[in-house]
Amino acid sequence: MNILLLGSGGREDALAWRLRQSPSCDELVCAPGNPGIARWAECVALDPCDPAEVVRLAQARNIDLVVVGPEAPLVAGVADACRAAGIAVCGPSAAAAELEGSKGFTKDLCAKAGIPTAAYVRVDTAAAALAALDRFAIPVVIKADGLAAGKGVTVAATRAEAEAAIHAAGDGHMVIEEFLDGEEASLFVLVDGARCAALASAQDHKRVGEGDTGPNTGGMGAYSPAPVLTPALEARAMREIVEPTARAMAEAGTPFNGVLFAGLMLTAEGPKLIEYNVRFGDPECEAIMPRIAGDFAALLADVANGRMDDLDLELEEAVTMTVIVAAQGYPGTPKKGGAIRGLDEAEAEGAIVFQAGTAAQDGGLVASGGRVLAVTAAGETLADARDAAYAALAKIDFADGFHRRDIGWRELERARGAAVTPS
Ligand code: AMP
Ligand code: GLY
Repeated sequence: MNILLLGSGGREDALAWRLRQSPSCDELVCAPGNPGIARWAECVALDPCDPAEVVRLAQARNIDLVVVGPEAPLVAGVADACRAAGIAVCGPSAAAAELEGSKGFTKDLCAKAGIPTAAYVRVDTAAAALAALDRFAIPVVIKADGLAAGKGVTVAATRAEAEAAIHAAGDGHMVIEEFLDGEEASLFVLVDGARCAALASAQDHKRVGEGDTGPNTGGMGAYSPAPVLTPALEARAMREIVEPTARAMAEAGTPFNGVLFAGLMLTAEGPKLIEYNVRFGDPECEAIMPRIAGDFAALLADVANGRMDDLDLELEEAVTMTVIVAAQGYPGTPKKGGAIRGLDEAEAEGAIVFQAGTAAQDGGLVASGGRVLAVTAAGETLADARDAAYAALAKIDFADGFHRRDIGWRELERARGAAVTPS
């Protein structure tokens, strides 16, 4: 099977790494890719959000399966264009990608299908948003609609903060919702249009600073599995949240195909949906890929072709951790061009260093984005995985980079028997 992977980040490096090891993967092409991905795939310069260009490349290279990493190509209709051209694709249509593209769409679907989620109202103007505030307790959550990479969300601890967030957002689609108390966990589910299979759970650290402080980022680290999502809670989330969603999407004539990423709040009343993403998380994907056993390419082909009845889903016993190395300045303006050395030495420690924002320059490697490296290691316990990841990280020479030293802290403290307050 010839595979075309779309994307250029750490998530796609991990996907390419795993696909390359799959017995059923023949040629692996990635567009546009990055220097890390070039270790496993032939990288082709191309705009992954241009449906016609993607189809042209897939046809020219006899591609049997397109795997879409990020959400932007999905929202742009790349999966629709591939399907229309008869090319199998693992990734939802633009209509099904609304589960991530529009928070209002997802909230309405939950209301209709009786899926547990925070109580909410949708508004279109700042005045309506301010008026709606009276119907909620404090803290309250303000969400600007549309793809915002988590940056459009304010958890307001006071009424004044809520009002400020509404004024800052101005007029436009907004969701005001009830604050959910509990611990968060992410569940990654394969959906073939009709059937759902839970793949793995993970937790990420969104804040830039240690102790989960400071501004939100795309994620500074992750680990898998998320022990807080026990098998019983996972089964309940599948039954009460994910499966009814897949059913509702199919009934609406917009079946979901691909990876559904459910962001869950584990409340005293059970799991509730915070949000959906329609793709793997980054850096959760880097943590999950080393846990997948068997032929991953064949697995994704079964998803793409609606053949999940003979799905062969196997996970390694290992626990994994990914620590992100970001460029100074991230999540603001990251410093570009900093030299990166020592990756071979880091990998000699037993870790794998996936690349996100890197570029080849003068025979070496330099930083070219906010999140630069995703150092990933496996172990028997989370503490083992953590020790291995940080030992590898210590070998990396990247003066313009920084990382959090406390990835997994909540879980590591819990493992030591300490009481941990939810985030
Ligand atoms: P979202 O982009 O919807 O995932 O929101 C980003 C983050 O805001 C989530 O990961 C949560 O930490 C927080 N959040 C969102 N909605 C709620 C809610 N209803 N209650 C508490 N925290 C929330
Ligand atoms: N790490 C969260 C995300 O990929 O959206």
